Amino acid sequence: MKILLCFGTRPEAIKMAPLYHELKKHEAFEVIVCVTAQHREMLDQVLDFFEIIPDYDLDVMQPNQTLNGLSSQILSKMDTVLNDANPDLVLVHGDTTTSAMVALATFHKGIKVGHVEAGLRTYNKKAPFPEELNRQLTGRIADFHFSPTLKASQNLLSEGVKNKAVVVTGNTVVDALYLTLEKLENGFTNETIEYLKGKINFNNKVILVTGHRRESFGEGFENICKAILELSKNKELEIIYPVHLNPNVQETVYKMLSGFENILLIEPLDYPSFVWLMSKSSLIISDSGGIQEEAPSFNIPVLVTREATERDEGIKAGCSYLVGNDMSKIVDIANKLLQLKLSRETHPNPYGDGKASEKIVNFIKNNL
Ligand code: UD1
Ligand code: UDP
Repeated sequence: MKILLCFGTRPEAIKMAPLYHELKKHEAFEVIVCVTAQHREMLDQVLDFFEIIPDYDLDVMQPNQTLNGLSSQILSKMDTVLNDANPDLVLVHGDTTTSAMVALATFHKGIKVGHVEAGLRTYNKKAPFPEELNRQLTGRIADFHFSPTLKASQNLLSEGVKNKAVVVTGNTVVDALYLTLEKLENGFTNETIEYLKGKINFNNKVILVTGHRRESFGEGFENICKAILELSKNKELEIIYPVHLNPNVQETVYKMLSGFENILLIEPLDYPSFVWLMSKSSLIISDSGGIQEEAPSFNIPVLVTREATERDEGIKAGCSYLVGNDMSKIVDIANKLLQLKLSRETHPNPYGDGKASEKIVNFIKNNL
């Protein structure tokens, strides 16, 4: 059976990497990879670390690309890939423009689609934008749905998806995290980790920050930056911010946060360096989906700078806190959480046990 994995951004690559390696263990599968390269540098960092060489690279990224421009490029370029590869099954991931457009292109060719990380919902078209619609669209198209949590699978069932097409697997991000932690525990290091070791004073508490959501561009990002500035007045804190390459993020963050002694603005980190830094942090402030899922494995609380999250499990388990873009809320809750130490017993990771890829592969073996 020929299986084509198709992805394009950093988080999709991280979450598809363990599945790629799990599928490759089985002789029954011919595994091929197509990257749209909706992201370029941030995708390549992940391909490099997880040793994935794509069979097809659509190389679509443009500076400050528009959603429609990106979508149309992916749709038209996928025709050639699907004609040439002629797969039995295409696996897409999550809720990006790549996921939705590849799923649509695959459906147009009459080929089956499997959706990894299926069923996440806010049921609010504007938050996250455009991801909520991307995943709903992908969910309508998909023939098989690999849900990370019971809640996600229930969303799909309530939308009329057949029970036998849905399986709860856990999130493959936990598989990726465990693979990476194992390497780090076995002595993996690189130039970036060594640089950070020399640069950060770990006697202080570290706050790690990321952000990239389109619905927060402008005022939302400015408020988050103001909150970071306020927190940075405490000189016993070190704030580390790997800034997403989206120009809408770069502009605001570099303008508002450059030149402060205890705020370190850096390029996006390669995955092992980011995982290593998470493990050394006391608090994370982020709008990232993936980070909400990873942080519980380190017992590090996440302030989620979004109005809505599809990842309620972490909120309910007390691992993450939805704070929106309200400056005083961010500062107040951050200060409270910096005093708190979560324990692994009371807060197990609600997103997976590191065996999601194995469960997805078993389902494919038994059902296709
Ligand atoms: C995209 C996804 C979002 C996902 C996020 C993960 C969509 C609509 N958005 O958002 O769901 O959560 O990735 O990070 O699918 N850029 C570079 N180099 C890179 C990556 C991005 O220069 O390696 C710059 C380019 O100018 C690019 C811009 O960032 O045009 C925006 O990239 P895009 O993928 O459209 O949006 P993201 O904000 O990255
Ligand atoms: N990440 C990374 N380097 C960074 C920031 C994040 O490798 O500088 C990883 C992080 O560990 C997580 C993923 O990228 O696995 C999250 O990506 P992002 O926040 O861009 O997208 P989202 O998860 O929100 O779709």
